[in-house]
Amino acid sequence: MKLFALSNLCFFSSLFLYRIASANADGRETEHAILPPRGWNSYDSFCWIISEQDFLQSADIVAKRLLPHGYEYVVVDYLWYRKKVKDAHIDSEGIDLIDEWGRMVPDPDRWPSSKGGKGFTEVAKKVHDMGLKFGIHVMKGISNQAVNANTLIYDYDKKGPYTEAGRQWRAQDIAIKEKPCAWMPHGFMAVNTKLGAGRAFLRSLHKQYADWSVDFVKHDCAFGDDLDEGEISVVSEVFKGEHNRPIIYSLSPGTSAAPDMAQKINGLANMYRVTGDDWDSWPDVAAHFSVARDFAAANMIGSQGLNGRSWPDLDMLPLGWLTDANSTQGPYRACKLTLDEQKTQMTLWAMAKSPLMFGGDVRKLDDTTYGLITNPTILEIDHYSSNNKEFPYINGGKEGATGPGAGANATGVRSWIATGTQGEIYLAFFNLNNAKTAISAEITDLGKALPGWKLNPSCKGTEIWSGKDFGVMQKSVSTEVETHGCALFVLNCK
Ligand SMILES: *[C@@H]1O[C@H](CO)[C@@H](O)[C@H](O)[C@H]1NC(C)=O
Ligand SMILES: *[C@@H]1O[C@H](CO)[C@@H](O)[C@H](O)[C@H]1NC(C)=O
Repeated sequence: MKLFALSNLCFFSSLFLYRIASANADGRETEHAILPPRGWNSYDSFCWIISEQDFLQSADIVAKRLLPHGYEYVVVDYLWYRKKVKDAHIDSEGIDLIDEWGRMVPDPDRWPSSKGGKGFTEVAKKVHDMGLKFGIHVMKGISNQAVNANTLIYDYDKKGPYTEAGRQWRAQDIAIKEKPCAWMPHGFMAVNTKLGAGRAFLRSLHKQYADWSVDFVKHDCAFGDDLDEGEISVVSEVFKGEHNRPIIYSLSPGTSAAPDMAQKINGLANMYRVTGDDWDSWPDVAAHFSVARDFAAANMIGSQGLNGRSWPDLDMLPLGWLTDANSTQGPYRACKLTLDEQKTQMTLWAMAKSPLMFGGDVRKLDDTTYGLITNPTILEIDHYSSNNKEFPYINGGKEGATGPGAGANATGVRSWIATGTQGEIYLAFFNLNNAKTAISAEITDLGKALPGWKLNPSCKGTEIWSGKDFGVMQKSVSTEVETHGCALFVLNCK
């Protein structure tokens, strides 16, 4: 009887594998994150305090105005389980909600549909009905709340307490108190994934998220300085098995991340942050140039990922109407970047094929911000360009430039190149200096970045942000670029 059941199982699982393999060969329909994911995340405009009502209202606007431009994920950022009591803040202790198994529970005052143990099921359903996909932020490991309560560990498969070696296991058996989350030391700590009970706990969390019909999990305090390969492997294994509902697995933050770190986990995830948090300050934007160059040079853009591909993530777009980190007042102020700085951010993010997660308040989406985040050329480059890399062969700026992102040769001017699906060349010039600067590239040098391309000595082209037609450019592409601004050329050189 047992033998029969086993061979039956083998028969069916080999059929299943065959189906996946043939689908891959035909049209990759089983692969996901084929393109860098795009969506809206609540953090930049609400920090942690968003409510169900505000979230669904925002999602509805995303569905109407941004989904047609590929922004398909709406993501609840962190601390949805924290009670919004007086003086609550981002590293409060003792006001998080957990269930009897030590798993985070949405705050029912902010998320009323979660009552009765439903978690985010109802929110996910409404989001799906809008044609969108639903994401949540989760922290690494186990909460201080669960460790203090010493809750039992849940065995998801047996639907009861996890037992091993003849006993039940509890939070304090798996928690590693010496490894708190570096940036939220009173909130969460690592779990010991060498223990069956540690792995069972993580499985009980992430299987539950899958049961809630979550499509995107942003897993924080697990990458960068807090890299936890053991935990990432366990979570990735859970999501790998979710054949019916592919879950995008996103790692955060990327403080001190370099390509060699990403190469340890890229096959286990779909996107991973390569910097710390990006807010609306020029040094934050400028700090992305060198790191984006390094990940492009290491061929990490669109490399192998969980059930598909993975993408270096330059973080959210804090444009439009925002709040501050650790604020409890919701969106109340305009983005502090100049318009040129905002164009620079959009252009670099697109040239590096970063996921695009808009962070501003969509209920107060002004026309300028809307134009930036839905610019058709930017979105085309972000999804469909190839050969993306820094282009070092430019002239301009002055030696000895200082300031954030001044560049390897410290001229304060930088450039990226990529190619389009119709043989066009995208060439972006960036001026990181504090004065208007002329930047140019010799057309013969474009070929140095595009081996095997036959290029004319002249190119026709348009600059996207000004809309200016540069006509036929002989020998060089050249223009003046505003302080912290950029020029984005679409060139035809064939
Ligand atoms: C956040 O704000 C609270 C006051 O509301 C303060 O006590 C706390 O130290 C702040 N935390 C951080 C990380 O800035
Ligand atoms: C910057 O460096 C590149 C090569 O690394 C070089 O080709 C280019 O001329 C330099 N730019 C300036 C302005 O010195």
